[in-house]
This record gives sequence, structure tokens and C-alpha cells, in this order.
Amino acid sequence: MWQNIEAAPVDSIFGLTDAFKKDQNPKKVNLGVGVYKDDTSNTPVLNCVKAAEKILLEKENSKSYLPISGDPVYAENVQKLLFGESSEVISSGRAATAQAPGGTGALRVGGDLLKKFYPGAKVWISSPTWANHKGVFITAGFELAEYEYYNDETKDVDFASMTARLKTIPAGDIVLLHACCHNPSGVDLNNEQWEKIADISKEKGWIAFLDFAYQGFGESVDADRYSVEQFAATGGDFFIASSFSKNFGLYNERTGALTIVSPTAEQSAVAMSHLKSTIRVIYSNPPAHGGLVAATILSDPELYAQWLEELGIMRDRIKAMRSALVDGLMKRGVEGDFSYITRQRGMFSFSGLSSEVVDWLREHKSIYVVGGGRINLAGLTSENIDYVCDGIAEALSKQ
Ligand code: LMR
Repeated sequence: MWQNIEAAPVDSIFGLTDAFKKDQNPKKVNLGVGVYKDDTSNTPVLNCVKAAEKILLEKENSKSYLPISGDPVYAENVQKLLFGESSEVISSGRAATAQAPGGTGALRVGGDLLKKFYPGAKVWISSPTWANHKGVFITAGFELAEYEYYNDETKDVDFASMTARLKTIPAGDIVLLHACCHNPSGVDLNNEQWEKIADISKEKGWIAFLDFAYQGFGESVDADRYSVEQFAATGGDFFIASSFSKNFGLYNERTGALTIVSPTAEQSAVAMSHLKSTIRVIYSNPPAHGGLVAATILSDPELYAQWLEELGIMRDRIKAMRSALVDGLMKRGVEGDFSYITRQRGMFSFSGLSSEVVDWLREHKSIYVVGGGRINLAGLTSENIDYVCDGIAEALSKQ
């Protein structure tokens, strides 16, 4: 079968991890895949997760199937986290949430569901965006188009071009937005800008699809949902793909959710019925463990407080590494103003490194950076920061 078939290209992010693992250089540094690491380069299991697993080990008495839409306690807690406990969206029952295998699974379920009812729609993605967004929505059958987002000159959002473009998008098209901690740029809209984008969606009638994979990595769990609140306030339809990979460190448990918000509870029930029929033919029902862990933590005030603390530690360490990188580059006399790195939010920085520099760093220093120059700040540690800054300074001096 495969004799005349060309191999598929390696994944631009996971392929890097594979290459990193094979690299024999003891000084190698992985600044690629978006996974948190502590200062010893370990991706820890959070203490709150360990505690919840202990509870589950004693309490769990069956491995029978979950419902198609997953654990109801999980869904309830996901909604509280997404919208805030006292949100009108929750009290009016106009959100339908299904547990999904990771944020990617949620995006794909959403894509397949939207394709059923908007077969001719375009999906609009930010320029740039997470590489897998393209694959997910192309595979769901959509034509893609880009809206302007990141301006490399100003290292900021090109808000004028973005809004001008969003005003041309017709009703029924889908606009994919990063709810916070934009991947790959690390550059977010401010609150006032979110208000304007939500207004445009209401006026034009396009459907917002928020990818919310980094709640808590920007400012805080509460502050990071500002974008979601603005779309909720429109009273219209929108989608949210959320993930607990990063903020609970549940990467390999594939713990995410797709939430569909509709204007009324009646419409929401219809949305849920289609959400379930979409899921049934892809993976039938979700894996349980990660969802049970998250639900246990989110519904226990003590574990919840512990989680917020551990999340804060991750967020603060990444921020400290932003400053350390900027200081390190300045100390080495690297030309240019790198202060924008400290203004970016979430796990990533669009470093501005060219593809030649990215290739050179990998080849000569075993420093792995995603093509396009995205750096995962969490890959930096007090032990490797000097090595990385030396490497970048040397690479740039050769330009
Ligand atoms: C990333 O952007 O590196 C992460 O979201 C991991 C992934 O699935 O690509």
C-alpha cells in the first residue's frame, strides 16, 4: 500500500520534541512544545492533582463508560471556570459543555459540528496562529482565510487592520480567536479591544470560536476570561474550546471541553443534542481520568485554592524567565530592544529570530525553537539561561 505514497511531513511542534529526544548533546535545550517545566526542567504533576488522584483511587468504584458528553460534574465546573460562578450564561442555562479529549479534540468536534450546519462557511484564523489550527479546520472540510493580527514592526496587535478585516466577514463565517495568551505571538488584545471585537461579532453575525488553552497563564484565572465575558454579553452564539493540559498540567490525560453558548436554553438543548451525535461517531465518549481529577479539584475549596497557588507559581516562573532572557541578551550587547518579550503573555514569545537563526541554534547548539521563532519561555531554567543567551548572541552576530 505505501510503496508509492510519500511520507507525511513531521509535525512542526511534536517533530521537534522527537528530534530533541534523539539529540545526544548534554547541553540540549527544548524551547519548542508548549509544555511547562520547572527550574529543574521537569514537567511536574501538580500537588493538587496528586491529592485528587489519591481521593479518586479510594473512591472510584467503576470504569464503566461516561455519558457521551462526559462527566456532568466536570461540565458544571468547566462552565464556572469559563464564565465565572455567577454568570448569567450559567443561570440561564444557555451553555452546553461536553468533555473532550484535549483542546485539540474540542476544536475538531466543534469543526465537524459547524461543518454540518455551515458547509459553505470560511474559518478565519489569526495571522499567525498555532500551526495545528489550520490542520484541524482543513480536515473538518473548511476553507481557511486569515485576519491580520500580529505586527512584527510594533511587536503588537495590528488592531486597525484586524478590525477592518473582521468587519468584512459575513454572517455564518467562523472566526477563531485566542481567548488569552495568543499562541504563538504571546501578544493579546486589551480589554477595550475585546469589547470592540465582541461588538463587531454581534453586528456582523459571524460566529466566534474561542480557543482557551491558557486560562490563568496571562494574569489570573478571573482576569483571563475577560474575552469570554464580552462574547457572553452579546447574547449570541459562540463556541469555546478549552483545555486543562497547561493550567492543570494534565497534558497526557487529554482533558478539554467544547462549550457552545446559544441565545436561549431551548437552543442550547438542541446544540447539546448535535454535540453528542457529533462526538458519538468520532470517539463515542471521552476518557475519564483527567476530567475526574479536574472536577475533584474544582469542586473542593481547599484543592481549588492549592491549584490557584500552583498555577501562580508556574505563571510567575515564566514571567521571571522573560526578564532573565531580556537581561541576558542585553548583557551580551545584542543589538535591539527586546523589552517586548516581557510584555508578552502566556508561555510563548515570538522572539523575532529568523529561520536561519532558528536552524543554526538547532544545528550548532542543540537549542530547539519552533519555526517562525516561537520560544517556550518555560524551557528556560537558571541552569541553561546563560547557554541559551550565549547561543542566541552568537547566532545573531553571524547574521
Ligand atoms: C504547543 O503549541 O506547543 C502546544 O499547544 C502543544 C501542541 O499540541 O502543539
